[in-house]
Amino acid sequence: MRHPLVIGNWKLNGNKHIVIELIAALRNELSSVVGCDVAIAPPIAYLDLAKHYLGGSRIALGAQNVDTHLSGAFTGEVSAEILKDIGAKYIIIGHSERRTYHKESDDVIAEKFAVLKEAGLIPVLCIGESKVENEAGQTEAVCAHQIDAVLNSLGAKAFENTVIAYEPIWAIGTGKSATPAQAQAVHKFIRDHIAKHDAAIAEQVIIQYGGSVNADNAAELLTQKDIDGALVGSASLKADAFAVVVKAAVQANQD
Ligand code: 13P
Repeated sequence: MRHPLVIGNWKLNGNKHIVIELIAALRNELSSVVGCDVAIAPPIAYLDLAKHYLGGSRIALGAQNVDTHLSGAFTGEVSAEILKDIGAKYIIIGHSERRTYHKESDDVIAEKFAVLKEAGLIPVLCIGESKVENEAGQTEAVCAHQIDAVLNSLGAKAFENTVIAYEPIWAIGTGKSATPAQAQAVHKFIRDHIAKHDAAIAEQVIIQYGGSVNADNAAELLTQKDIDGALVGSASLKADAFAVVVKAAVQANQD
């Protein structure tokens, strides 16, 4: 049985004050909530501060990116070793914003997946199609291609204890989430695609949905059979809304 996982991707938002206040509010909202793994991924400069204020809570620390190199002359980058040292657990890779603005290729993302596994960190591999690809009926082909970059280089076993986040680009930051049925169909496709290589691995991999998840639509999305949690952007910056999403994941797992 898969354990639900909800991660807040804060993206490029916050400051010291917000980090401290938001974590305090989240701890308060989620203090009695069990049955869902929860993490927040603040901007990199605040990871250490966040770790400190998360101390003793069940909320884990995530990060939004990692470099493929472990150390050396790579100005501006952060390594898996540093993220591990600082206490991060879930590392988002391949987010569409990085694929678009930083021209990250499937091959580079597969390398990032490999370094995270090697370091004992949990990759959160983001995949998803653009609006144009969606309208051209290419959703499954795009998702398969993005997963294959990892499957073909590392094998299906690499997906053990990892997370895939299906984030249709047209749903990110638009307020227009995929419908529960749409998302479920793609999640099932992703699981079946991995199952062609290894059924047991496919059965345990966590597949999150991301893209305009909020307090109003979380319950319906999270009750879908193959939706194991959510990668939440803007709603994760509001403690009450994020807590509703987490509680919806707990409830969905009990139904
Ligand atoms: P929004 O929830 O703001 O649409 O962002 C989703 C996302 O990109 C999470 O990684």
